[in-house]
Amino acid sequence: MIADDVQQGITYFKRFRMEADLLASVPTVPELPLGFAWLPWREDLLEQHARAKQQSFHNEVDGVIFPNLSNYEGCLRLMRDIWRRPGFCAAATWLIIHDGVPCGTIQGISDRLGAGVVQNLGVIPAYRGRGIGTALMLKAMVGFRQAGLGRAALEVTAQNGAAVRLYRRLGFRCRRTLYKAVDALAAAAATPEIDWWL
Ligand SMILES: CC(C)(COP(=O)(O)OP(=O)(O)OC[C@H]1O[C@@H](n2cnc3c(N)ncnc32)[C@H](O)[C@@H]1OP(=O)(O)O)[C@@H](O)C(=O)NCCC(=O)NCCS
Repeated sequence: MIADDVQQGITYFKRFRMEADLLASVPTVPELPLGFAWLPWREDLLEQHARAKQQSFHNEVDGVIFPNLSNYEGCLRLMRDIWRRPGFCAAATWLIIHDGVPCGTIQGISDRLGAGVVQNLGVIPAYRGRGIGTALMLKAMVGFRQAGLGRAALEVTAQNGAAVRLYRRLGFRCRRTLYKAVDALAAAAATPEIDWWL
């Protein structure tokens, strides 16, 4: 079963707060595969980030836990919120395009304790498994370092195996376990293509 507990229509999703030390070694960002290119943060790319985010999270577990992630308007709102936050870290906010088309996005902010916090890492399904997600995360880690931050932090849903593996490979370790309550019936209704109860 994908959810850890179900009570009165509420499902609790286990999430990990993971952190990586940025002082021990400088991350190296790999070359992108042929045809892919980096776009550093610019205000006029906000909509392209939102589009890439929506296409990455649609039909994914985090798109159900955080419904804003699964629709374009919600992603646009999220992108505006992230950009306007006082700690917004442009150096850790990147888009990857392929033949001019956005295919992956990451955004970062700094918190008051000196950590760079990854907001949303997403790669559109057609571009996965080619190192794009890894490259985006490493680029954000380098950006946090450049911004003078000593740690990178993120939250990930425990069932999101691909993301957890990626983060562990890059040196992230679980520091805390959290539970996010979600209306299970609404989640199931919103995503009929996912069999939540297997
Ligand atoms: C998690 C996510 C960002 C990973 O993106 P990705 O581009 O597929 O990531 P990578 O290609 O770097 O790594 C994925 C796999 O491909 C492998 N890989 C990396 N480079 C590769 C290459 N050049 N050729 C073949 N495989 C490669 C990796 O080893 C990894 O394998 P693993 O799953 O066994 O660990 C993506 O699945 C996604 O957007 N998911 C939905 C949104 C989401 O959940 N985001 C995370 C929120 S916390």
